[in-house]
Amino acid sequence: AVADIGVTGLAVMGSNLARNLARNGYTVALHNRSWSKTAALLEAHGSDGEFVASESVADFVASLKRPRTVLIMVKAGAATDAVIEELTQHLEPGDIIVDGGNAHFPDTIRREKDLSARGFHFVGTGVSGGEEGALNGPAIMPGGTREAYDTLGPMLEKISAHVDGVPCCTYIGPDGAGHYVKMVHNGIEYADMQLIAEAYDLLRTALGLSAAEIGEIFADWNTGDLESYLIEITATVLAHTDAETGKAFVDVVADQAEQKGTGRWTVQSALDLGVPITGIAEATFARALSGSVPQREAARAADLAAATAGWDVPDRDAFIEDVRRALYASKVVAYSQGFDQIAAASAEHGWDVDRGACARIWRGGCIIRARFLNRITEAYERDANLPLLIADEYFASAVSNGVESWRRVVSQAALNGVPVPAFASSLAYYDGVRAEHLPAALIQAQRDFFGAHTYHRVDKDGVFHTEWSADRSETQQS
Ligand code: 6PG
Repeated sequence: AVADIGVTGLAVMGSNLARNLARNGYTVALHNRSWSKTAALLEAHGSDGEFVASESVADFVASLKRPRTVLIMVKAGAATDAVIEELTQHLEPGDIIVDGGNAHFPDTIRREKDLSARGFHFVGTGVSGGEEGALNGPAIMPGGTREAYDTLGPMLEKISAHVDGVPCCTYIGPDGAGHYVKMVHNGIEYADMQLIAEAYDLLRTALGLSAAEIGEIFADWNTGDLESYLIEITATVLAHTDAETGKAFVDVVADQAEQKGTGRWTVQSALDLGVPITGIAEATFARALSGSVPQREAARAADLAAATAGWDVPDRDAFIEDVRRALYASKVVAYSQGFDQIAAASAEHGWDVDRGACARIWRGGCIIRARFLNRITEAYERDANLPLLIADEYFASAVSNGVESWRRVVSQAALNGVPVPAFASSLAYYDGVRAEHLPAALIQAQRDFFGAHTYHRVDKDGVFHTEWSADRSETQQS
């Protein structure tokens, strides 16, 4: 047995992680259900480092040093369960099974429970960065036992992206914590993408700019606070011309955004926890709306009134700056909400997730890598239990500075019929969370009226009910 780690499932993510491990000096055992993928990897990239390829699971496991560490990179769901089951026939207690797919965290919790009862370590690991990241350094979010991390962590840290010499990989917490944090990463990714798309739409509609011109604006934004991978690729995509038609590439792509499910899971979990992640939710629903083809056709056929004002932008540069500030403020809110969700899930499951560490490992390798994540880490260093990211001194002033721009952009968008669900809902969240009084008092009164659901008072402790259908006297319930 010579291999330091094994990888099973050699589609592009698995292959690239295997190559990354080999390039970093590890001897990597390889296995795939069909030999052709293994052969293709060896043929094209066998010179990347030391590989030990096996056709059978038994040989694959036998090639691994103890405690054996196997990274599973197969499709999330039933395929993962099948591979785990087969592996456990050959592994021994103490061995480490790592699932690097985009598993749904309840599956990871279930698998960890089952496998730990059988003596194995199960590490559900989020991996972000797409194909390129997998090969050259992803962000890695491992969950599971500390003991497993002691063996596995150094390898993962070595192959991860590094920012300022710090690896974009850290131990996240027990069982489902790693996959949970990766899921929220993806939810934030959805919000980020939607906000960028809304900013693009505003610039296009209000200023009549071409895609390429807007690409230049994004390239410029990428030199400031907004500097991030997603802004950078947006500039590149907008500058791209379709070879066949000569049109802007973005104009030949059908306007229906798809999803594989992680955004939906994020929203579902937030609903269960009661955490308002409105930016992520609106982003997820905006994708759903774009794909609601019959509804969109029916709405257009019904010729629904626009009743718009006609967009007159007196100062082009001021408008662009307003959109930039609105984008930044909305983005901060989306992250703030995502971190709230991580805190709530961590408390619910007893994971003890360090949010500052999450921001730190997202600075490189992953899809949402961005300059301002440093600021988030600093905010959680100032206060590990910070109840609200936008209440931190840095972000409070960053968001407050943009609030006038934000209001102008959202109101102008509404007057001109440009849908900006993520901008608008983030602003509504901002106004809601900072409000001294919310109309929730009226909702509690209504609930008490029709269902005797009771209410608290602002002036004394206790639970109260008003006899609405009788003499409207108030009784104290407890
Ligand atoms: C990453 C990405 C990755 C992936 C998602 C996209 O972190 O590397 O988030 O996980 O690209 O699967 O998700 P949708 O297909 O749902 O947009």
